[in-house]
Amino acid sequence: MNRLKIAVTKGRLLEDSLDLFEQMGFDCSEVRADTRKLILPISNYPMDVVLSKAADVLTYVSHGVCDLGIVGKDTIMEHGGSFYEMLDLGFGKCRFALAVPDGSDFYGTYQNRVVASKYPNVTKAYFAEKGMDVSVIKIEGSVELAPLVGLSNGIVDIVQTGTTLKENGLTPIETVAPVSARLIVNTASMKLHQAEIFDLMDRIEAVIK
Ligand code: PRP
Repeated sequence: MNRLKIAVTKGRLLEDSLDLFEQMGFDCSEVRADTRKLILPISNYPMDVVLSKAADVLTYVSHGVCDLGIVGKDTIMEHGGSFYEMLDLGFGKCRFALAVPDGSDFYGTYQNRVVASKYPNVTKAYFAEKGMDVSVIKIEGSVELAPLVGLSNGIVDIVQTGTTLKENGLTPIETVAPVSARLIVNTASMKLHQAEIFDLMDRIEAVIK
């Protein structure tokens, strides 16, 4: 049997992904071992886990060096790529929201509005859909800072519990899109290793249903 390679997003999604694999009966002890290794085997199933940053999951799967990936819908929406999005895994749930300083009226002005985001493509697409002309500024770090220092009228960012917004005097006024972890598959792998990929997806679906 061909050994599958799955790129898994490091950080919050890794923990949930390993919990899912363990519910499926996979032995993740080598992945959980505290090492600096980046490619780690599932000991009792023909699959290796490749630990990657979110955007790199898309790159590895698009290029076919990994057959599958686990990545947030936020990253997929921002970067796109050439792969099949096969399953909503149901964890890593949060949303993209438009947030503004408490009490401010984002729509109550004819002046040009500025929105800061780590996700400029998602933000531009959202306002284009509304037919609104908005300037979008890309921020790399804590985007909540942008309206606080006067750079923007609002932000589009990931909201999970809402604590970060609240503690920085910001109010979410619109949901841009729901977000959760997705299973993606390389288009060629889907043909070449269909039996193995379907076996894995059957096992995932049996647990997440
Ligand atoms: C995200 C997001 C917010 C925070 C929201 O950042 O950018 O800052 O989580 O979560 P909350 O609604 O539960 O407060 P993350 O912690 O993922 O780090 P990042 O800035 O590296 O993306």
